[in-house]
Amino acid sequence: MQRTDYSQIAPTYNNRYSVNYLVKLEKELCKLIELNNYKNILEAGCGTGRWISSIEKKRKKIFGLDYSLDMMKIPKSDKSYLNLVNADAVHIPFKNDFFNLIFCVNAIHHFPDKEKFIKESNRTLSNKGMLAVFGVDPHIDKDWYIYDYFDFTYENDLKRFPSLKLLNILLKTEKFTNIEIKVVEEVHNEKVGNSVFSDPFLIKNNCSQLANLSDEEYQKGIEKIKNQINKNPETVFKTSVIFYLVSAKKK
Ligand SMILES: C[S@@+](CC[C@H](N)C(=O)[O-])C[C@H]1O[C@@H](n2cnc3c(N)ncnc32)[C@H](O)[C@@H]1O
Repeated sequence: MQRTDYSQIAPTYNNRYSVNYLVKLEKELCKLIELNNYKNILEAGCGTGRWISSIEKKRKKIFGLDYSLDMMKIPKSDKSYLNLVNADAVHIPFKNDFFNLIFCVNAIHHFPDKEKFIKESNRTLSNKGMLAVFGVDPHIDKDWYIYDYFDFTYENDLKRFPSLKLLNILLKTEKFTNIEIKVVEEVHNEKVGNSVFSDPFLIKNNCSQLANLSDEEYQKGIEKIKNQINKNPETVFKTSVIFYLVSAKKK
């Protein structure tokens, strides 16, 4: 699997949150922490810390794990209560039964071995602890203009992203119980004609789909978009993203 170079993405990564802060996803995350009174919490693939810094920190131990030091450098120094660990999510460097909650947001598709990550989560979660995977499923939702204009981005995503169905199977195989799948947030927008170039996700290093392309492949997609706008300046470029939560408890 192609490993995304997050040192290229890190400096501009947070731009995506100025366009959409994904508040519903944040509410859902905070709700499940408060309802279950989780104290020891790990985010696998925490990146710049968008999610771990939004968790109410009172009486909690909050850990963020990421393999990219450049992404982890972005959280501000006033977030010193966060415990950041530079590691791979398929080898979680913690003892057995340590966490009450392990979650990841838009990250599992990067983990080289999803099965191993789920096994590691099982090992490091306490009895009845929860694994919560937030993300998208391009196997069922593919309404994104990036897929139409940039060759192989859709095919690559089908290989990288585990479907909801596969996650369900992997969790059952690891004997997780109470498996639930639900929609937590939907983002729908349209850009008409040249306004598509104001979309931060169209910048090469702002999303992994485009960052994984060579400069030539990227340029080819941009040219396709420009040609399309020349043909029809009113072309609509659609983005429709559905974020799901797959949650399950350790037996
Ligand atoms: C799309 S970003 C998501 C960051 C954060 N969760 C968010 O939603 O803002 C994916 C993150 O996963 C990290 N990542 C990718 N593969 C990883 C791995 N095998 N182990 C740990 N982190 C990984 C990347 O470095 C990156 O920070």
